Amino acid sequence: MGEIVIAAKVTHVPSMFISEQAGPHHGCRDAAIAGHHEIARRARSAGATAFVVFDTHWLVNSGYHVNANPHHRGTYTSNEFPHFIQELPYDYEGVTDLGHAIADLATARGVRTRAHDAVPSLGLEYGTLVPMRYMNSDPHSALPVLSIAGWMQDSSFEESRCVGSAVAEAIAESDHRVALLASGSLSHRIWPNDEVEHGMFNISRPFNEHVDKMVLGLWKEGRIDEFLAILPDYAEHCSGEAHMHDTALLFGALGWDDYHGAGEIVTDWFPSSGTGQCNVVFPVAS
Ligand SMILES: [Fe+2]
Repeated sequence: MGEIVIAAKVTHVPSMFISEQAGPHHGCRDAAIAGHHEIARRARSAGATAFVVFDTHWLVNSGYHVNANPHHRGTYTSNEFPHFIQELPYDYEGVTDLGHAIADLATARGVRTRAHDAVPSLGLEYGTLVPMRYMNSDPHSALPVLSIAGWMQDSSFEESRCVGSAVAEAIAESDHRVALLASGSLSHRIWPNDEVEHGMFNISRPFNEHVDKMVLGLWKEGRIDEFLAILPDYAEHCSGEAHMHDTALLFGALGWDDYHGAGEIVTDWFPSSGTGQCNVVFPVAS
C-alpha cells in the first residue's frame, strides 16, 4: 500500500542557477537551495520511492495531463528564461503505472485526464527540473519522477481539487511512497520588462508581499480551510503562478478543507524578480 510520505510547496526560481555560478550573485539563493536539500533529506528519510510534481510551467489547454513516460531524458533550455536555464541535461526514470492510475481515477470522477507513456519527446518543464536538480540529482540514487501539468488554461479549482484527490487515492492504491511537490510561486507579478533586470531581489508590489505573508501565516497555523476560501481571490489579485493550480492540486491531495496540518516553513519568504517565493512542508499522517 502506497502513501504520500512528504508534501511540500516549493520554489523553482531560475536564479537558483545563477546562485551556483561565480559572479556577483553567487550564493544569492543559498536559502532556497538549502530548503530543497532539506526536503530531499526528509523525503529519503521517510522512505520515498518516487517524486510526483505538480508543475506550473507545463501549460495545457484542454484537459489534465500526466507525463507517464517510462524515462525522462533530454537537454532543457527554458524558452522563457534562456539566459538563466540552458542546456540542462536530465535523466530520470518515470512512474508509468501511477500516471495511468491517476488519469483513470480522475477521469472516472469527471475530469478528463490523460497519461502519456509513449511520447519520448514530451519533455519535462522547469517546474519539475529545478526541484529535481536540488532534490534528486545523484544518478546513483535518483528516484523516479512523475510530472503532472499544473498550468491549466481555464480550469476550475474544483477540477484541480478532484484531480488532486485522485492523485492521493491512486498513490494509496499503489506501492509507491511519494514525495509530493507543488512547484510554484506565491504571488507572481514579475516586474515590467523595463524594470525586471534590476528587480531580481525585490517584490514588485508591496500588497503582494503582505498577502503572501498572511497566507504563510494561515499555513503555519493550519488554517487551510480559511486559506482555501480566499484562494480564488488570492490567485486573481496577486497574479498567482498558473493561477495557483499547483496549490489547489496539492491541497486536493491532502484532503482540501478537511486538512488541518500546520505548514513548516523551511525557506522563509523571499522575493525574486518581483514574485514571492518559499519552501513549505505540510505534515502528512504516517
Ligand atoms: Fe515559475
